[in-house]
Amino acid sequence: MSGPFSDLTETIFTDKSVLSESYQPEEILERDEEIEAFSHALQDVLFGREPENIFLYGKAGLGKTAVTTYMMEELKAEVDVREEADDLHVHEINCNGKTLFMVVRRLVNELLPPDASPFPKRGLGTGDAFDELYSQLDRLGGTHLIVFDEIDHLDDVDTLLYELPRARSNGHITDSLVGIIGISNNYTFRQSLSAKVKDTLMETEISFSPYDAGELRTILRDRADRAFVDGACDDSAIAKAAALSAQDMGNAR
Ligand SMILES: Nc1ncnc2c1ncn2[C@@H]1O[C@H](COP(=O)(O)OP(=O)(O)OP(=O)(O)O)[C@@H](O)[C@H]1O
Ligand SMILES: [Mg+2]
Repeated sequence: MSGPFSDLTETIFTDKSVLSESYQPEEILERDEEIEAFSHALQDVLFGREPENIFLYGKAGLGKTAVTTYMMEELKAEVDVREEADDLHVHEINCNGKTLFMVVRRLVNELLPPDASPFPKRGLGTGDAFDELYSQLDRLGGTHLIVFDEIDHLDDVDTLLYELPRARSNGHITDSLVGIIGISNNYTFRQSLSAKVKDTLMETEISFSPYDAGELRTILRDRADRAFVDGACDDSAIAKAAALSAQDMGNAR
């Protein structure tokens, strides 16, 4: 008996999952300068020094998240093979739609030992959450890189960027090191910070420019080669998609 699915066979894909939004490319193409700046800014992690704070700017689909995830994976692998490097903990949080309390609470819950009860949702305030964060950071020790994606969407970002970078110099933490990686679509984000934060926040800025048609072709060809069977995705289709996106915002998505 034949059912509605029995005649279906895989025809064009070898690995359709590489086309999904959640796919993380193993290789980042056409971002060599950004990767070099990023690795330069992260090098202190390998030598047990306090990491630089890093802010990435650029419009949608320019590889900010993909490059950051790639750099974190590469850095963890490098730390693993260097005996002299401290333990590295990476935490990634998307700030969209979240309050500062929610973000700090999320971090605390990630750091708590598995058998501990989570930080309460009600009854305590953001200051309490920061206190708990500091004690968990010191309990674990090592270096903590905290990635705040869409950081411009966070309410009270001034408090976050005043507190965390100063946690060590203010004596809140002594046995751990913290670095912030902020990601934003908004190039004027820094200008929107309070004067106090602007004056004191030290960071390396890396800006992601739109991809041109040639760069998009390289990225799309590589991805299509992983996704489709040979001959299923013609170069002319890649060139057309690359040209259209380059004319628009240079978005690889
Ligand atoms: N240089 C690249 N090499 C390979 N794939 C890339 C590259 N740049 C972007 N991509 C792919 O394009 C898509 C969008 O990239 P990504 O999510 O990193 O963009 P983004 O800059 O974080 O955008 P948004 O601001 O919307 O979050 C992802 O599927 C990513 O894997
Ligand atoms: Mg992103």
